Amino acid sequence: MRIVLVGPPGAGKGTQAVLLAKTLSIPHVSTGDLFRANISQGTELGRLAKSIMDAGKLVPDEVTIAMVKDRLAQPDAAKGFLLDGFPRNTAQAVALDEILTESGIALDGVLDLEVPEDEVVKRIAGRRICRNDSSHVFHVAYNAPKTEGVCDICGGELYQRSDDTEETVRTRLEVYHTETEPIIEYYKQQGLVTTISALGPVNEVTERAITALKQS
Ligand code: AP5
Ligand code: ZN
Repeated sequence: MRIVLVGPPGAGKGTQAVLLAKTLSIPHVSTGDLFRANISQGTELGRLAKSIMDAGKLVPDEVTIAMVKDRLAQPDAAKGFLLDGFPRNTAQAVALDEILTESGIALDGVLDLEVPEDEVVKRIAGRRICRNDSSHVFHVAYNAPKTEGVCDICGGELYQRSDDTEETVRTRLEVYHTETEPIIEYYKQQGLVTTISALGPVNEVTERAITALKQS
């Protein structure tokens, strides 16, 4: 399956994407995780992305699209993929359509995670992620690790993302409304969108997501 996951910052896209990718046996492709891996490796792309991410703005389309094109060309993506955090504006959605058309393939569905803004703010405020792998995501209250500050998956140190400050979150939400929400309409016109509530326990949201994707 080829799926795009959309939803505001902190909706639980990363949390659900890890579980869904495992269930569907397809790779989880997160542009946020790819940028964070570049930052921790100190690459040129990482240096470019860092200040933009800390400001809550979007990394330029040109580099983001090239990075995704590269990732989707890897052999494991031939069986399908779950895109998390991409596309994030209409230009990226058009570029993705072009990349897929070139390979004679198409998206199967777009899953839209709906969460009220006050909940998103609580989720982001308590989020802690792993130094070794930013897809290892916890929450101090809702999804606490067994040992405080330690990743259950790999034993790495947990920390708060530098773009999870109140001010940056406000900008990220604004960017979501102005830049990203229009892609939901873009994909609705292609009949690809299913919206589900992302409220409630993580496993219940996963069940809702799987039911929705089976109908895609
Ligand atoms: P990115 O990393 O994609 O951030 P985001 O979209 O803002 O999404 P988040 O990672 O904040 O949240 P999420 O929805 O994954 O929630 P999570 O599962 O962690 O992007 C970061 C930056 O990179 C962007 O601002 C931009 O600068 C750049 N970037 C990325 N992609 C780009 C692109 N395509 N173009 C240009 N720039 C790009 O969950 C949040 C918390 O809630 C966690 O603590 C979790 O444990 C908890 N939680 C999850 N589910 C539940 C639940 N059901 N109940 C209670 N708690 C829950
Ligand atoms: Zn870890």
